[in-house]
Amino acid sequence: MQTRIVWISVLGGVLAAALIARADGKKAKVDVSKLPPPAQKQGVTYASDIKPIFDRSCVKCHGAEKPKAKLRLDSLEGALKGSAEGKVIVPGDSAASELVHNIARLGDEDHWMPPPDNKAGIPPLTTDEIALIRAWIDQGAK
Ligand code: HEC
Repeated sequence: MQTRIVWISVLGGVLAAALIARADGKKAKVDVSKLPPPAQKQGVTYASDIKPIFDRSCVKCHGAEKPKAKLRLDSLEGALKGSAEGKVIVPGDSAASELVHNIARLGDEDHWMPPPDNKAGIPPLTTDEIALIRAWIDQGAK
């Protein structure tokens, strides 16, 4: 009986460790130290700074018509609401925001945005654009 309990605890421990390692592995894929630093500019807003970038590079697929992943980036409300799978922006924390990981091309290539070799021929965002989007989110995504 005693040995059985010991074995059950050992197995439980191993299972828990495996689960933790898996969750870690998923996170470890995104190395936020590789992100370009946020822009210095103050008072960054969706309307004045970010909408033009999203209109140029994202709204073809994330606009009113059949938005991919149900994510709309043609309005501030849409961007904050997120996708079918939940929020993609954490106001105040750009490094934790999935949208930033996607545009900086960190993590799984399937989620790089805009998608590499997309048919619309939309190029990746520039470092300056990513820096501005980071500053916008860090300043509260207003
Ligand atoms: C050519 C079409 C296309 C363009 C342009 C595009 N996307 Fe996407 N986007 C997709 C598709 C398809 C998905 C769903 C598959 C996936 O999650 O990778 C997606 C998913 C996403 C997601 C993840 C949503 C989720 O929760 O799974 C984010 C965030 C995102 N896009 C942001 C952007 C941003 C920001 C831009 C502009 C810089 C952009 N996308 C440009 C097609 C596009």
